[in-house]
Amino acid sequence: MIIASVTSDYGIGKGIADITGMEYLTFSSKTFPDGESYLNMGRNLKGEDVLLVQGMDTMPDKRFVETLMAIDAAFEAGAGNVYGLITYMAYARQDRAFTEGEPISARAILKALYNAGMQRLAVVEPHKAEELSYFKGKSNAISVLEDVAVAASNELENPIIIAPDAGSYAKANGIAKALGTECDYIQKKRNRIDGSVSMEKGLGDIKGRDALIVDDMISTGGTIVQAANEAKEKGANRIYAAATHLVLTGEALRNIKNSGVSDVLGSNCIVRDGCRVVDVSRRIADTMQFFGSD
Ligand code: R5P
Repeated sequence: MIIASVTSDYGIGKGIADITGMEYLTFSSKTFPDGESYLNMGRNLKGEDVLLVQGMDTMPDKRFVETLMAIDAAFEAGAGNVYGLITYMAYARQDRAFTEGEPISARAILKALYNAGMQRLAVVEPHKAEELSYFKGKSNAISVLEDVAVAASNELENPIIIAPDAGSYAKANGIAKALGTECDYIQKKRNRIDGSVSMEKGLGDIKGRDALIVDDMISTGGTIVQAANEAKEKGANRIYAAATHLVLTGEALRNIKNSGVSDVLGSNCIVRDGCRVVDVSRRIADTMQFFGSD
């Protein structure tokens, strides 16, 4: 199998190729004056299977279209099977129609990848693993959040793990157990119109303990800021935030730091200035047998 980085994987594809010894290539790309993308994989694949590696943060629509084009390019170049490793899947949070008239955007994305010819798909930290059932081929959810959380907790004293919403509690609690500590959670409510978050259930007393807030992703930072404010209110000492995907739009990082979070750690699936990066290439490389299994 050949590993091929499409346009935005922050070096994960190369990292996996280095670890596994698999052949590696990158697509060359450019953007036409009207905004359209151009891709070229630069060689014939002569019947070999190919694993396309792509993330969809920053310009998610463009990254998604490039993924579809890469699938087509791979078949055009004579690929046998075309597989996908999506290091960050955009639209994963719209996994249901929250109000009448909305699409299930995650389903639209996953159906399109499958219909374009992708036979197998692995997604790093999808918002919910179950949503991958919208992809009709074989799929695999790879979680790396524990690696990021462990790196953060190594620097903390008697940390308590905090899930910033009920949806992330199960994962956060698993991480707390692995670290031999406790977990508490906040129940948040998001305004579907303006995106703002409010709190329905707060934390217990965490006086004098360090707090590690863990989440699958950080976008505007509103969720983390709310959790950090609540942790301070309940007596936390130092506060860290750890997430697999640091999308960090606009002033997110500044707002998070201003709310008292001393350090923000993320995986190298998305790399952002001002944040600490945990290399999860080995963890992802260890799942590569998924693409070779029956
Ligand atoms: C939501 O369910 C996710 O797990 C994250 O908590 C959320 O998407 C983070 O978004 P933001 O940083 O904009 O609050």
